[in-house]
Amino acid sequence: MENPFKFGTIVEEDFFTDRHEEVAYICQFVESANHLVLMSPRRFGKSSVVAKAVKQTGRSHITVNLQNVTSVADFAAKLLREFFRLHPWERLRHLITHFRIIPTVSTNPVTGAVDVSFQPGVDGVVRLEDALALLDKAHTEESRLIVVLDEFQEIRDIAPRLDRQLRSVMQAQRHINYILLGSQESMMTDIFENKKSPFYHFGELMRLGKLPRDDFRRYLLERLSGVFAERSGEVADRILDYTGCHPYYSQQLAANVWQTAVLQPETADVVQAAIDHIVKTHGLDYERLWMKFNRTDRWILQRLATGENLRSGEHRTSTIYSALKKLQREGYVIYTDRYELEDPFYRQWIAAGR
Ligand SMILES: Nc1ncnc2c1ncn2[C@@H]1O[C@H](COP(=O)(O)OP(=O)(O)OP(=O)(O)O)[C@@H](O)[C@H]1O
Ligand SMILES: [Mg+2]
Repeated sequence: MENPFKFGTIVEEDFFTDRHEEVAYICQFVESANHLVLMSPRRFGKSSVVAKAVKQTGRSHITVNLQNVTSVADFAAKLLREFFRLHPWERLRHLITHFRIIPTVSTNPVTGAVDVSFQPGVDGVVRLEDALALLDKAHTEESRLIVVLDEFQEIRDIAPRLDRQLRSVMQAQRHINYILLGSQESMMTDIFENKKSPFYHFGELMRLGKLPRDDFRRYLLERLSGVFAERSGEVADRILDYTGCHPYYSQQLAANVWQTAVLQPETADVVQAAIDHIVKTHGLDYERLWMKFNRTDRWILQRLATGENLRSGEHRTSTIYSALKKLQREGYVIYTDRYELEDPFYRQWIAAGR
């Protein structure tokens, strides 16, 4: 029997639930000539929701994850490689001849996959400009291309000033809708909300929340009923209470609960056993992480883990606030309607250690 839950990668089809409004919004948005910026805390489902929406538009689209890009030239090569999946490069030969540096394009005769490479040593920005110009020229205003750049915050690490250069190329394009996504704890906020950043006010900002409880509960119920029968509702509720409807952690816990129920049906409290198992598996990482935090951070994390008030007078409000902001930037703390620990399993580990 295959585990009916999935976590860690982009989820599609049967593993994807809800987000109807978000998918409809993205589909409708790219009908306009504007660009979209999507942010959320880590692992809330950005990549999945965008993948679903762009597929649903039925339009030409390509995706490049900037986390896998090693240099500006590699960025150009990856864009072209994806693009030649949509449009056979032979048909674009007339446009490639406009390149200032002609890339080597080869087709793998077995897989049919296209590979693109450039001679080493030439300015990467020129190649990127040429590649982006090709994408724009091969499309029209009536059939714009959708370009998804995932983990966009990495732009600042690929090369200095690349954000500025990219922005000036994008500004002149007419036949592309960009969807830029990244986690809000990272540099994303600074890139799009800082007046000095070249991407300030580049596109419409969209933030993704957690999954609605009713829908997620139904999703869990359908998949748990085979093993828990009439107890499925109670099990689903306990999972969602524990994870606070976080998309990734809920799927992770549900997958473990399901597996425990199938492999060790004699277990008395399956949900607790699954939680304990996950916490134990990560114990070493948690310990290592804990050692890295300073005393104020530890105090804050412990308070958040046990739900105690941060304004106890033990630390100055300004000290707490700046430490919270730092923990948030680093992804350990998220803010939805209140500050909370991002990882419910780490929360338990911390609370147990007090
Ligand atoms: N709509 C959904 N329905 C069910 N599960 C989901 C949904 N969206 C996300 N998840 C769960 O969350 C996990 C992470 O999703 P995804 O990779 O799309 O998030 P992300 O925000 O892009 O993450 P990252 O910050 O790591 O890039 C998925 O593997 C899945 O377990
Ligand atoms: Mg992602």
